[in-house]
Amino acid sequence: MVTGASDGIGKAIAVQLAEAGLNLVLVARRQELLKALAADLTRKHRIEARVLAFDLGQPVAAGAVVAATESLDVGLLAAVAGFGTSGRFIDGPLDRELDMIDVNCRAVVDLSHHFARRFAAQQRGGLILMSSLLAFQGVPRAANYAATKAFVQTFAEALRLELSPCGVDVVASAPGPVRSGFEARANMRMSAAAEPEVVARQTLAALGRQTTVRPGLLSKFLEASLVPLPRGLRSRIMGVVMGGMTRHQNDNGEKQDRGFA
Ligand SMILES: NC(=O)c1ccc[n+]([C@@H]2O[C@H](COP(=O)([O-])OP(=O)(O)OC[C@H]3O[C@@H](n4cnc5c(N)ncnc54)[C@H](OP(=O)(O)O)[C@@H]3O)[C@@H](O)[C@H]2O)c1
Repeated sequence: MVTGASDGIGKAIAVQLAEAGLNLVLVARRQELLKALAADLTRKHRIEARVLAFDLGQPVAAGAVVAATESLDVGLLAAVAGFGTSGRFIDGPLDRELDMIDVNCRAVVDLSHHFARRFAAQQRGGLILMSSLLAFQGVPRAANYAATKAFVQTFAEALRLELSPCGVDVVASAPGPVRSGFEARANMRMSAAAEPEVVARQTLAALGRQTTVRPGLLSKFLEASLVPLPRGLRSRIMGVVMGGMTRHQNDNGEKQDRGFA
């Protein structure tokens, strides 16, 4: 099961799982994109693909996804759905920030709880959780987004240790900038970015082998540069980086509603 399968990293993971011959449950809001992907993968790889169009920001959505997959033999949850905002926290609308916590954190916990129980009972399974390079320190101009990813990172690290004796693998995937729909929705400008296919491949390869994978050369380089530094200094440096990625907001004279394309 792949959430966030209509675009970007989730779509790339779904494609690579289909290439490996796995049946799929594809979850996101944009039903038409999911249906087109399901039709394409079914035709090319002779797999079965089911589409579940839900808004994971709605508290009832995860339960509905669980109910719709009750009769299926699910062995992997890739909880990829998520989005970011950018700009000063106090300048954007609160409801968008709270929705981001619901999608990036609440739905991830909800789905992980259900599927990890199922996987533990069957003594096999895997969880892929989407962290970020931003998860490892506070990041000015992406304060709440970085915090949601810190939550997922910490959650995944602990789950890996809890679940590995039950035969369940957990990996946190922490890419740097990735070329996807994320950039426009978060109203960021990325000058260099990894391709979603690379992130997907390295993330799938890390499942069962690593606690945290940093897919893409850029994320490895940035992490290696930041790791030796004190956390406060890392925050300041990431604030400068994020300042560059959101400079256009000042150029455009954007004062309100930052971060929402
Ligand atoms: N791109 C980056 O630079 C980057 C870096 C580090 C980590 N990440 C993380 O990687 C994950 C995937 O991002 P991406 O780069 O692939 O972005 P993307 O291309 O924008 O894809 C995001 C996916 O999440 C789904 N989604 C968003 N809100 C949803 C909601 N309320 N309910 C259900 N599905 C929802 C979207 O589908 P619908 O719009 O159809 O609902 C889409 O399939 C996110 O968790 C993100 O935080 C991204």
